[in-house]
Amino acid sequence: MSQYKAYEVVEVTDKQYQGSVVEKSEDDLSDGELLIEVLYSSLNYKDALSASGNRGVTRHYPHVPGIDAVGTILDSENPQFPKGQVVLVTGYDLGMNTSGGFGQRIRVPASWAASLPSGMDPATSMRLGTAGLTAGLCVDALLKNGLQVDHGEVLVTGSTGGVGIIAVGILAKLGFQVVASTGKPEAVQLLKTMGASEIIDRHEFGEPSSRPLLAERWAAAVDVVGGDTLFNVIKGLKYGGSVAACGLVQSPMFQASVLPFILRGVNLLGVDSVELPLIEKERIWSKLAGDWKVGALDQVCTEIGLDQLEASLATILSGGAIGRFLLNLQR
Ligand SMILES: NC(=O)c1ccc[n+]([C@@H]2O[C@H](COP(=O)([O-])OP(=O)(O)OC[C@H]3O[C@@H](n4cnc5c(N)ncnc54)[C@H](OP(=O)(O)O)[C@@H]3O)[C@@H](O)[C@H]2O)c1
Repeated sequence: MSQYKAYEVVEVTDKQYQGSVVEKSEDDLSDGELLIEVLYSSLNYKDALSASGNRGVTRHYPHVPGIDAVGTILDSENPQFPKGQVVLVTGYDLGMNTSGGFGQRIRVPASWAASLPSGMDPATSMRLGTAGLTAGLCVDALLKNGLQVDHGEVLVTGSTGGVGIIAVGILAKLGFQVVASTGKPEAVQLLKTMGASEIIDRHEFGEPSSRPLLAERWAAAVDVVGGDTLFNVIKGLKYGGSVAACGLVQSPMFQASVLPFILRGVNLLGVDSVELPLIEKERIWSKLAGDWKVGALDQVCTEIGLDQLEASLATILSGGAIGRFLLNLQR
């Protein structure tokens, strides 16, 4: 029976949740063909929800969160995945109702495991993590809908967060003029380092507006915020423009009218990184390791150990995070 360390969240009293680092046994892991020694995981908004008792994300506690992980296969029942191979797992049920990457071991179905793309090391894969994959999917959706560099400015909301900051980096690398919306004036320099050409205050978008349409400004947008922000972004898209919507940090609900859609032909593109077929995830990971490789990732990423998880998750939940957190399980 092998023991390993994990950050486990328990319900201490009714609706009060607390996490701590505990010793767990491999025998308690769920069934799956691959037993993996986790090298790195990362922190995502959904992890912060899971770690704080959000039953929409995680139904049962005690629970080990962590919706993504990279690690070495220790034991395999699938000949396509030999022992010693390094694999990447993001989404599906990992860290939601299956023990996740905030532990030194996971056991998962082989159908969840992607090969690490060539040219990408394990730490970089989790500096990007689910946030990077999602940013890549948003950019991919916009490009598939015809976005070109000469169409004009592309807006990224929640731009200092995990998805936002990597979306800024990818779009800038592809030559787009990126406008980053943020609530953190102290992060202006960092956003410029990632390639943003202009930084704007997120409060410009955050309030409800009675105007049916706004001035046409955005060729496209990546929105992680939802709520009134998303509707204001839709109202400010140029004719034929698209917004890739992937998040809900302001609100999962938003009011809308059909006017921007029927007067300007704009597009609202939904992006999901969780249940997406593995082959599509691998396609985006290859791009992230190749043409879409984002520089300065280490500057927007803080490396932490299990003992620093609680504080970092609280920062994410309060909307105060800047960039990404890389969780090193070997520390
Ligand atoms: N669809 C998918 O597959 C998928 C995958 C990954 C993430 N997501 C979702 O995408 C969103 C972002 O995830 P993340 O990991 O990037 O989160 P994050 O690192 O916590 O970043 C979110 C950012 O949003 C901004 N923000 C926070 N609260 C806000 C508010 N009340 N109003 C407006 N802006 C606010 C902040 O940036 P500024 O201070 O710079 O404005 C914050 O840093 C989450 O809702 C997450 O669930 C979806």
